[in-house]
Amino acid sequence: MNMKQILLMLMVVTALVSCQDKKPAVLDTAGKNATIETILTRRSIRKYTEQQVTNDQLDTIMKCAIYSPSALNKQSWEIRVVKNPKLLEEINNRYLAVARAQLASGVELKGSAARAANPGFSVFHGAPTLIVLAQDTANSYSSVDMGILTENILLSAKALGLGTCPIGSLVPTFRDPSNVDLLEPLHFSDGYRVGLTIALGYPAEDPQPKERYADKVKIIE
Ligand SMILES: Cc1cc2nc3c(=O)[nH]c(=O)nc-3n(C[C@H](O)[C@H](O)[C@H](O)COP(=O)(O)O)c2cc1C
Repeated sequence: MNMKQILLMLMVVTALVSCQDKKPAVLDTAGKNATIETILTRRSIRKYTEQQVTNDQLDTIMKCAIYSPSALNKQSWEIRVVKNPKLLEEINNRYLAVARAQLASGVELKGSAARAANPGFSVFHGAPTLIVLAQDTANSYSSVDMGILTENILLSAKALGLGTCPIGSLVPTFRDPSNVDLLEPLHFSDGYRVGLTIALGYPAEDPQPKERYADKVKIIE
């Protein structure tokens, strides 16, 4: 091997090494791996079309939901899928009654709730379906189990071309003792209480990703 060939080889090796340094593994899979694509392109959707999701779509999403891992496989959640327009309207009205009174008395509501006084406001962004999740209050892992369950719902819905948004704002509405009648049609088991709700439907917007804080991650070698 002459000097020229050695130099050329060194240049190729250097180029390959610096290429590896600059490219995080996640970029290598972009567009090539359906699961990673789904995770990276999911957004919270806050505008929906009127089109209802089908029961076939729901079957798939619910199957993905119940395949979530859970501590000791206790599956410490119960899931109710509300498609009934009258019940959805009532849930929103109960939320609005409190939110509008709070706004009127000067309480500052966060996020989209700050617009609750606007006519036609929907706390679940007008989605045609609301998933209500309840957690077993006797299970210390139930919040973790429910969080993982939620992500399986969000990602499987995204994989089917549907939009979702977790709606924590509705939790106090469901937990308010004066709204106990709202829970009746949901038939949650004793010892379970509502932990999160999820808006579900066809997306009518394509939002940009929200900022992520990469410095939250540290690799200790
Ligand atoms: C536990 C939880 C509660 C949330 N509650 C609400 C809510 O009440 N209303 C809403 O519009 N978005 C809600 N979100 C959505 C977040 O605002 C959203 O996930 C976050 O801004 C990141 O945006 P992205 O989901 O598009 O990545 C909630 C998310 C989580 C995980």
